[in-house]
Amino acid sequence: MKAYDLRKKYLAFFQSKGHSVIKSASLIPDNDPTVLFTTAGMHPLVPYLLGGKHPQGKRLTDVQKCIRTGDIDEVGDPVHLTFFEMLGNWSLGDYFKQEAIEFSFEFLTSKECLGIPVEMLAVTVFAGDENAPFDEEAFNKWRSLGIPEKRIAKCPKEDNWWGPAGQTGPCGPDTEMFYWTGPLPAPEAFDPKNKLWVEIWNDVFMQYNKTADGRFEPLAQKNVDTGMGVERVTAILQGKKSCYDTELFAPLFAELDQLRGVTHADGEERSRSERIVVEHARAATFIMADGITPGKVDQAYVLRRLVRRMIREARKIGVNGLFTAKLAEVVIREYKEFYPELEANSRQILEEFTREEEQFQQALEKGTAEFEKLIARVPAHIQNKVVSGKNAFYLYETFGFPIELTVEMAQEKGFKVDLKGYEEAYAKHQELSRKGAEQKFKGGLADHSEESAKLHTATHLLHAALRKVLGDHVAQKGSNINAERLRFDFSHPDRMTPEQLAEVEKLVNAAIASKTPVTCEEMGVEEARAQGAIGLFGDKYGEKVRVYTMGPYSKEICGGPHASNTGDLVSFKILKEESSSRGIRRIKAVIGK
Ligand code: ALA
Repeated sequence: MKAYDLRKKYLAFFQSKGHSVIKSASLIPDNDPTVLFTTAGMHPLVPYLLGGKHPQGKRLTDVQKCIRTGDIDEVGDPVHLTFFEMLGNWSLGDYFKQEAIEFSFEFLTSKECLGIPVEMLAVTVFAGDENAPFDEEAFNKWRSLGIPEKRIAKCPKEDNWWGPAGQTGPCGPDTEMFYWTGPLPAPEAFDPKNKLWVEIWNDVFMQYNKTADGRFEPLAQKNVDTGMGVERVTAILQGKKSCYDTELFAPLFAELDQLRGVTHADGEERSRSERIVVEHARAATFIMADGITPGKVDQAYVLRRLVRRMIREARKIGVNGLFTAKLAEVVIREYKEFYPELEANSRQILEEFTREEEQFQQALEKGTAEFEKLIARVPAHIQNKVVSGKNAFYLYETFGFPIELTVEMAQEKGFKVDLKGYEEAYAKHQELSRKGAEQKFKGGLADHSEESAKLHTATHLLHAALRKVLGDHVAQKGSNINAERLRFDFSHPDRMTPEQLAEVEKLVNAAIASKTPVTCEEMGVEEARAQGAIGLFGDKYGEKVRVYTMGPYSKEICGGPHASNTGDLVSFKILKEESSSRGIRRIKAVIGK
């Protein structure tokens, strides 16, 4: 089965079970982030898992684009990806374990769906611990559907518990489904440690809320959250060892072959460099389609790393000249049906790739000059000439020089590189950025405190005021809220003048002083548009959205939550206005205490 059919079948199946198909949310978490990217299908649904009413009902399904950067350095082996698509279905306080497991079993085994023989399947269920009991209900349900006891493993929390996505929030035991990929027949007994059993689907029963002090409170609303990776399942269903061997990557490899002027023998394994180039091309194209351009911080930095790594690897395998936009074109062509934002932003995406590629070429040239200088400082008569780890890391960090490149260039000049020192400098840096990322996560997803709701309300007022002062070209490009401040990225070509900043502050403060109630209404997209609401419109006809109105000051599509009155914000002050990336400005602001 092709990925195309897998997506279609999944959505149609869950539609037939009363689920509404929702659109993939942006890769950039909207309003709720302290994480950089959307990492799972449940991610954009957190407000609804916590009890908010979703305008499209209690049963939802979608295919969500996701990015996980934790394994970025692993990309290149046959299994790791940064970008992937996740199929999911959700019950928001509607059905629970019985139906969720029934749906999963039916979709996996029925002839009209995946048609997997039961003999090829095994499952895990939560074994129980001091926080929550053994999941007997899931165990019995699988038994009743015909999964033999020997094929059901009871596993501890490390394996069979999902979430919360941040430090606190919805989470619960899960049951995971595995497929046998080894020689037939599949072993009678399931051993979850045997790598030939591959996980294909995860049903999470979100029935707890992890509190800040580490307790697991039962949730008022019991939810189901499931996730199935499109790339992995496509490969498995086709009997392929790697998702890189499926049609999802074939057109990209074909373009790459053409760029290199080589032909590829059928069935021959692709090299690590080839995999990195196509994987990063796909991920970077999707990130750009969501409005990010390469830069120095956050998502922009991840994007820059992806594009530069892709270029370096391509050079290694003989691709010369500008090429990145050619691969991006293939991604856009192949994915535009499910992700129309690719085509809508195609011109911009292709331009950004080329711009970044040209810039990196210059960095390479500068880096080489810097390298020559470093080398020249070492007197010629010295034996055992060494480039220090610190310098090697400096070349990597500042000019994007991969260590292999530094080693190669050093060799030509009769130098060795202190690899151990380099590793140490690198590890120290990793540790720092890991800590940064964790910090980022902490304030995270589940932080639906009153303070963040107020800051969120301030974001709407700021957005509206910016449009009034600067013009209608201003659109939200990102938003991030933590306990102390809001951060808002928006499209605008120039630095704002002090007068403009003062005017925006004045407008927001006037809205706060008016003590206007914040109201929320559900309506069709057409109605919201007709009322002049701003924000992200779904593009499906008849889709329902929630619109938050703050008197005459703001009307915006949004999932909430918000303060109940603009007066709750007390006052508003802009701390900083700066560039975020090209064409995008960033404002940091606080509200009164
Ligand atoms: N949220 C669950 C996962 O990512 C389904 O596996």
